Amino acid sequence: MSRLVIVSNRVADLTNTAQAGGLAVGVGDSLRQRGGVWLGWDGQRLKYEEPPEPRIRKMGPVSLATIPLTQQDYDEYYLGFSNSVLWPLFHYRLDLVDYKSEFLEGYRRVNGKFADALMTILQPDDVIWIHDYHLIPLASELRRRGCTQRMGFFLHIPFPPPEILAAVPRHKWLVECLLDFDVIGFQTNTDLGNLQHYVADQLGCEMSGNVIRTGEREVISGCFPIGIDVDAFSQMAQRPNEEVQIETHRRRVLRRKQIIGVDRLDYTKGLPDRLRAFERLLELYPEHVKNVALIQIATPTREEVEAYADIRRELEALSGAINGRYADFNWTPVRYMYRTVPRDALAALFRVSQVGFVTPLRDGMNLVAKEYVAAQSMDDPGVLVLSKFAGAAEELREALIVNPYDSDDMARALNRALTMSLEERQERQQALIDRIREKDANWWLKSFMDALENRNPVPA
Ligand code: ADP
Ligand code: F6P
Repeated sequence: MSRLVIVSNRVADLTNTAQAGGLAVGVGDSLRQRGGVWLGWDGQRLKYEEPPEPRIRKMGPVSLATIPLTQQDYDEYYLGFSNSVLWPLFHYRLDLVDYKSEFLEGYRRVNGKFADALMTILQPDDVIWIHDYHLIPLASELRRRGCTQRMGFFLHIPFPPPEILAAVPRHKWLVECLLDFDVIGFQTNTDLGNLQHYVADQLGCEMSGNVIRTGEREVISGCFPIGIDVDAFSQMAQRPNEEVQIETHRRRVLRRKQIIGVDRLDYTKGLPDRLRAFERLLELYPEHVKNVALIQIATPTREEVEAYADIRRELEALSGAINGRYADFNWTPVRYMYRTVPRDALAALFRVSQVGFVTPLRDGMNLVAKEYVAAQSMDDPGVLVLSKFAGAAEELREALIVNPYDSDDMARALNRALTMSLEERQERQQALIDRIREKDANWWLKSFMDALENRNPVPA
């Protein structure tokens, strides 16, 4: 078996259980099983340039290779082109795109740095798997430096329709960069379809099934929904710490139910709309007042980008307003926490919550939805309420699927979830758990590697 070299903007500390972000979790789960090298930014912002050789740290079967960036790289490549242009654009939020030509220059420069660093550690038989929107031009940069190894790319976030993509300068260049990979993977069939339409209409490429012909080359495109390590998460969920046990016991005695939301605090996650939907539940169905609480855990993320600071302020004001209106001496309707929580605590909290409330306005996959399902017990499972705009909704059809822009629709679904019979909950849970087991972290790694190593076209 060839050595697997994974590249992403950040690497995850595989020993740290409190790490937020689908990429860190998905790649971490997969790489632990196969072993290999994982190269990424070390999180430092230096005032000066450093030589390209990465620092290597061994963690069991995985070698973590990291490089620092400069403050200018961080501003232009990370905050700028990646998170103020591509992130909003790919999440269909043209109103939040803030394009500057220096962002694009920084983006190209840093992709060049990643390529330089990688060239110092690559071996001839390596197979390279590059992740996410920060590194779209990396295959082109590597090929320019003479790299001939097989290269795959997986996009963790949505790929927008051609008419949205075309709003950003140099969109053709971006997609041509994608075509320098051997395999390009997406979370959903919708994303895959969007790319295929773009390359056929705008670049005139021929398609044969999922194979894209570009000049002399053939590029495999496919849909590989990311999964989780279901057993590991389910086992964690069965070991609640003392705090969770006491709080759950208290709620049982008081016959109170809990709705849970867990996200990075990102404007794509639909958090204000979610809080408004919870408020609407209390308005439309007053029998839930004092009997149901919403716990929302939100991890700080990209706080230097203005849109993220705005959403934080909005959420704090909204949770304060709902509590001000409804709270009583012994009941707080919204418990809002702005922090990262260890994964085992999260898993246990999912298990003791009667509703998993996952309502992004647009999301590549959303692993929280799969984690909520993995954490449930078959004896008394909770209900997943899921946005139709999460990639996960393509698979998790037995969830209660909602429109995250419609607070009445979400309130009705919450009420239905809170009052659903045990039999219906069990039926839905069985179907959902079967689905997340079928396409778990291992399946994701294997199916992508099969396409990349054996050049097996993915069925259309
Ligand atoms: P994204 O990749 O956009 O952050 P996902 O839902 O796919 O969204 O992945 C988020 C991952 O980060 C999940 O594994 C989730 O459990 C974890 N996570 C999100 N918020 C927190 C938090 N507050 N504390 C701990 N883990 C979190
Ligand atoms: O999954 C989307 C993603 O952007 C990942 O690429 C990233 O690891 C995660 O969200 C967290 O974002 P950031 O690295 O910007 O904190």
